[in-house]
Amino acid sequence: MQLTAPLDMHLHLRDGEMLDNIAKSSAQTFSGAIIMPNLVPPVSTKEEVIAYKNRILNAIGDEQFTPYMTLFFKPTYDKAFLESIRDEITAIKLYPAGITTNSEGGVSGFDVEELRPTLEAMSELDIPLCIHGETNGFVMDREAEFVSIYERLATAFPKLKIIMEHITTKESVAALDKYENLYATITLHHLLITLDDVAGGMLKPHLFCKPIAKRPEDKVALLKVALEAHPKVMFGSDSAPHPREAKEACGCAAGVFTAPIALQVLAELFENENAPLENLQAFVSGNAQHIYGVKPLPKTVVLEKKPFTVPSSYNGVVPMYADEEIAYSIKEIIYG
Ligand code: DOR
Ligand code: ZN
Repeated sequence: MQLTAPLDMHLHLRDGEMLDNIAKSSAQTFSGAIIMPNLVPPVSTKEEVIAYKNRILNAIGDEQFTPYMTLFFKPTYDKAFLESIRDEITAIKLYPAGITTNSEGGVSGFDVEELRPTLEAMSELDIPLCIHGETNGFVMDREAEFVSIYERLATAFPKLKIIMEHITTKESVAALDKYENLYATITLHHLLITLDDVAGGMLKPHLFCKPIAKRPEDKVALLKVALEAHPKVMFGSDSAPHPREAKEACGCAAGVFTAPIALQVLAELFENENAPLENLQAFVSGNAQHIYGVKPLPKTVVLEKKPFTVPSSYNGVVPMYADEEIAYSIKEIIYG
């Protein structure tokens, strides 16, 4: 099985030692990825975007991989600033304040008029807006409650591309077909698990993430649009590494580390669900190319059906399926 130019449209690469330790997990197999800006402090100036991109390029060494950079949304960005940074970024990421890891500087309240100058300028400059769509309501309802905010923004800025990041609910899936300018990323883990897998038995900290995995019917809705490669849906792993100590702790950090096994497990999932390979290809690359207008570096990942035992950790970060066997292995990467 071959996948051409796989793209991960939602990835956390972190910084410093963690960046150096985990960047290759993505760069070896993916052609490129949208890089999240939730560092401490968040990536919010042109200098920070360029410097972070250089640190990423340094960490990936010789790998052929494009980091598509993002900026941390602030309602104070004006058009002149956005024009000056346009060529350095692929999107801007909006976090509600305090909703997840390092999002304290995000947006509080979603007053359209307050956001209008920045969002209008983004719309004119054709800068996509990626949103972590959760309210601060009850944890299982946060995303469904946020759909009305997506709808308000999609209506107020009809030319702005809005990407509902890491959707986890049937309500978000339904919103996709109602608004022309709404798109979505879906993670690997939300196609595989529900809240039961996280907390139904012994608590599984390595499956704890934001948004939290939801109900079986939500997973069914996500699987449907992923397996049919709905043209407004893209793969975005939200692979979010934390050191083992931060996950196996009394205050467990949110994030599932899937980068090293994502393509192999997607291959297994699509095969088990009898979805055609061309749909997987569209889900992991073609749809994103259309939506974002990116032209990824040529790279072909050859997968073979050969059991692979997932390591218990990658430099101190525990991956999904640690110590378990998955059905596919990476056989070869063909460049060019
Ligand atoms: O589980 C998550 N981890 N969700 C997010 O939105 C952020 C991410 C992280 O940065 O750790
Ligand atoms: Zn994320």
